[in-house]
Amino acid sequence: WPWIYPRWMMGHVKMASEDITKLAESLAKTKVGGGQLSFKGQSLKLNTAEDAEEVIKQIEEFDGLEALRLEGNTVGVEAAKVIAKALEKKSELKRCHWSDMFTGRLRSEIPPALISLGDALIAAGAQLVELDLSDNAFGPDGVRGFEALLKSPACYTLQELKLNNCGMGIGGGKILAAALKECHRKSSAQGKPLALKIFVAGRNRLENDGATALAEAFGIIGTLEEVHMPQNGINHPGITALAQAFSINPLLKVINLNDNTFTEKGAVAMAETLKALRQIEVINFGDCLVRSKGAVAIADAVKEGLHKLKELNLSFCEIKRDAALTVAEAIEDKTELEKLDLNGNCLGEEVCEQLHEILEGFNMASVLGSLSDDEGDEDDDDEEEEDDEEEEEEEEQQQLKERGAEEQESLTPKKIIDSQASTPVPSPPVDVATFLAFPSPEKLLRLGPKCSVLIAQQTDTSDVEKVVATLLRISSVFKDEAPVKTAVHETTDALMKKAFGSATFNSDAFITNLLVHMGLLKSEEKIKTVPSLYGILMTLNHMVQQDYFPKSLAPVLSAFVTNDENCKAQRWNLLLNGTSYCDSNKVSDFSEN
Ligand SMILES: *[C@@H]1O[C@H](CO)[C@@H](O)[C@H](O)[C@H]1NC(C)=O
Repeated sequence: WPWIYPRWMMGHVKMASEDITKLAESLAKTKVGGGQLSFKGQSLKLNTAEDAEEVIKQIEEFDGLEALRLEGNTVGVEAAKVIAKALEKKSELKRCHWSDMFTGRLRSEIPPALISLGDALIAAGAQLVELDLSDNAFGPDGVRGFEALLKSPACYTLQELKLNNCGMGIGGGKILAAALKECHRKSSAQGKPLALKIFVAGRNRLENDGATALAEAFGIIGTLEEVHMPQNGINHPGITALAQAFSINPLLKVINLNDNTFTEKGAVAMAETLKALRQIEVINFGDCLVRSKGAVAIADAVKEGLHKLKELNLSFCEIKRDAALTVAEAIEDKTELEKLDLNGNCLGEEVCEQLHEILEGFNMASVLGSLSDDEGDEDDDDEEEEDDEEEEEEEEQQQLKERGAEEQESLTPKKIIDSQASTPVPSPPVDVATFLAFPSPEKLLRLGPKCSVLIAQQTDTSDVEKVVATLLRISSVFKDEAPVKTAVHETTDALMKKAFGSATFNSDAFITNLLVHMGLLKSEEKIKTVPSLYGILMTLNHMVQQDYFPKSLAPVLSAFVTNDENCKAQRWNLLLNGTSYCDSNKVSDFSEN
């Protein structure tokens, strides 16, 4: 980096103090590591109480423990007991990242270990938000190991339950469903009903009966936002039960049922449900044997609503020609769509090309995934049962399409006249480059609902300078009014998600560069600072509260926006080491130096 020294040393920092106070407050809430203690991936083999001594010591010494990561270790019954004892005092614990923590254990060891840990959480009076027990092969009986915990007040506040790949089976699914219902009943009686948002249980052989039991619980809960149940051997009765339950979970955003078996019946039921849902962003029915009829039903649901749809996966579903084209046509006005996967169906080369053309016509060619595994157009195939029905359906589709095409041709001139009559003066189109060159709130809005995707796409996020420049330009148009504010937030979210999500992005260099442009750090190179800090402060205030924002950056920023004397030490630390670790307990160490 260029040689940098802080402007505060010269005593010339002028900022809108209220905005800074706001940002400082948000940052204060963004605790370092979120109160998290992590033993993740340490391959600790904890059998005896002695083996667990170091872990226990760290737990005991960690004030305000909110998240405990134990994944990637192996904890035996005795060790679990003593760890549990230490947890009995941790009433602030909210997140248990306890996946893959019994590697190589006997199945019989897991329930008693889980029971000790669960009892400790109950005794502590913890109020969990997230419980992740994925990749622990505890089997059906293992669910008994955390059944009491699930039914206890410790889980009344649960928002995320993750049980991927645990071998629960039908039996485990039923116990789990009953526990969730009990939790909902008891928490409702206290006026705070369980409001589970995320449920994950892929690869568990839940089958129809397990899925149906869970569907009953989902129907009662009603607050789900994401359900991931891929690879569970569920057929149409289970899928239909889930579809019914989903229809009374109006907040659902993500439905991932990849690699189950819908067939037409299940697919049609699910399509009906999709018509009732408004928030859907991700539909993953890949490998689900939705078939042509199901695909058409789903296309219908997509066409009618689902304006927030981002991903539609109908790959490897035995979908044929016209049904696939119907799906493509249904996404015409889905401005949020990022991915359409129709790979592995029975289309044939010609139809694959047609798909591309249709999407190109919508200016959405980039959303279509690869079609490299297409099974080809099987004209003389042996699926006789399906054939009659399908032929009829295909004929109908063909007619519809022809009619559609005629209509379009004959209507085009009139349509243009109509639209001219109703629109006042057509403004010239805006592209990303124009907006970034001379940013204004109007231009950002005129980029349309895809502005966030477009800007993120067109910014080289491996270049820190470019990211900072783009971020500053976008935030410069910030206004505390609904459409502009939302557009700025969504656009910066997309940009920064992409940046922070990239392995090559240097977050420390990013923050330094940003602080320089904000005039909070001075660089030897002449750099133009932003004329007003208002927009960027408002934007940062939003950013630091998002999941994509690395918690480790909070203290660095914090050090520059708080007036606290102690934090000057942190600024020094940033300058000396390039990174800072703002931990109020450690501040004194630095100031003494
Ligand atoms: C869609 O599902 C298929 C089949 O399971 C999977 O291979 C593919 O990765 C998925 N596509 C996307 C875009 O997630």
